[in-house]
Amino acid sequence: MRQKIVAGNWKMNLDLNEGITLFNEVAAFIAQDITGSQQAIVCSPYIHLSALTALAKGNTKLSVGAQNAHQAESGAYTGEISAKMLTSVGVTYVILGHSERRQYFGETNELLAKKTDTVLKHGLKPIFCIGETLQERESGVYFDIIKQQLVEAVFHLEASEFSKLVIAYEPVWAIGTGVTASAEQAQEIHAFIRKEIAAKYGQAVADGISILYGGSCNPKNAPELFAKPDIDGGLIGGASLKARDFVDILKVFN
Ligand code: 13P
Repeated sequence: MRQKIVAGNWKMNLDLNEGITLFNEVAAFIAQDITGSQQAIVCSPYIHLSALTALAKGNTKLSVGAQNAHQAESGAYTGEISAKMLTSVGVTYVILGHSERRQYFGETNELLAKKTDTVLKHGLKPIFCIGETLQERESGVYFDIIKQQLVEAVFHLEASEFSKLVIAYEPVWAIGTGVTASAEQAQEIHAFIRKEIAAKYGQAVADGISILYGGSCNPKNAPELFAKPDIDGGLIGGASLKARDFVDILKVFN
């Protein structure tokens, strides 16, 4: 059985105290409500990571992730954070390729291939984001775009390394808009992603990879989305800032 995962992407929200409070609430609701083997991940801003990994220590149901990492090992990159720094504070996951990083910070598939190599080398598990814009969906090229993102950013990996990835399908038009992809639309793309992985790495690898849906996912629409055979969980933005909503989404897998 593939790992069911609900990851929260806090984006650039919450100061340190607010983040600690939210994380403690999430942990308390998980302890109270979660009966299955599903995994929760909280991807916070860098500032929170040390404090949150200390709070998550020994918690088998709740892990901590970062939202980005630099591709270089170290050096003169003012303001950046390396993969080694992340592992040194106990982080296990890192989001790479989020559409906001692609859009506002110019991250390309080529750069993301380098970032993926670096974070894997340091033992971090990438939550690798792919997805099409509204224009790409409307012009019908979205399958090509998604395939290109996979081919250019992660299909250079050996199967043993690729197997460490979590893939997140996030249609850009559904992020922070309140518009969710229908369960059928999401399933169609998730099945396509899994088919492409199978063609490249074989069915066993494809069957083992968790593919998350992201884009205005909430406690109301999560049950229908997560019931689809190729949707293994969610990458949650806005709703991850409310402990009750986040854990209610996770609870769908009980
Ligand atoms: P929203 O859930 O706020 O639409 O954000 C999705 C997202 O970008 C998660 O990475």
